Amino acid sequence: MSSPPPAERERLFLALWPDPGLQRAIERAAREAVRETGGRPVPAENLHITVLFVGSVERERRHCLEQALAARGDLRAFTLELDRLGYWRRPRVLWLAPTHVPEALEELAAALRAAASGCGLATESRPLRPHLTLARKARRRGDAQALGEALCWPVDRYCLVRSQTLPEGARYESIGEWPLA
Ligand code: 2AM
Repeated sequence: MSSPPPAERERLFLALWPDPGLQRAIERAAREAVRETGGRPVPAENLHITVLFVGSVERERRHCLEQALAARGDLRAFTLELDRLGYWRRPRVLWLAPTHVPEALEELAAALRAAASGCGLATESRPLRPHLTLARKARRRGDAQALGEALCWPVDRYCLVRSQTLPEGARYESIGEWPLA
């Protein structure tokens, strides 16, 4: 069977999305570091943590994934302490991350991966490294450092996000959301 035309495929990922108040707090807390890197800042409304990158998906498999996620009412809420700023040289990314990754986040990632693979979606097998990308094409080097004051993020939901690459940058659109108990 031939593949469906490109228009019927969407680039999807599952993510934690801070509310606008926290997005602004993150932007403020990271402003100085972002300026120092000389990189391209990620706009506040685009700040997020990817839990599972799914990639290009046909409509039918997206529906399968949505149903599988809706059936998981058992996933737990957790709190993230965003307390570490760092830089990855290869992707040239400045990031903010929690030093401690709660077990409930590991469980969430495993459950999302299982749901995706149950729908025939191949996903990354790299270990989870939860982070918010703050700036791209960043120049800074050096070790990760503590953020002046950690930001506390009570996470009680996750969402399915459609991503498009436009000339002006990435466009993200949340197309589904599920609560964490
Ligand atoms: P990044 O911020 O570290 O680049 C949308 O592109 C989101 O999916 C971003 O959070 C991005 O992470 C992540 N992402 C993009 N490609 C990915 C891949 N191949 N594997 C894992 N995550 C990816």
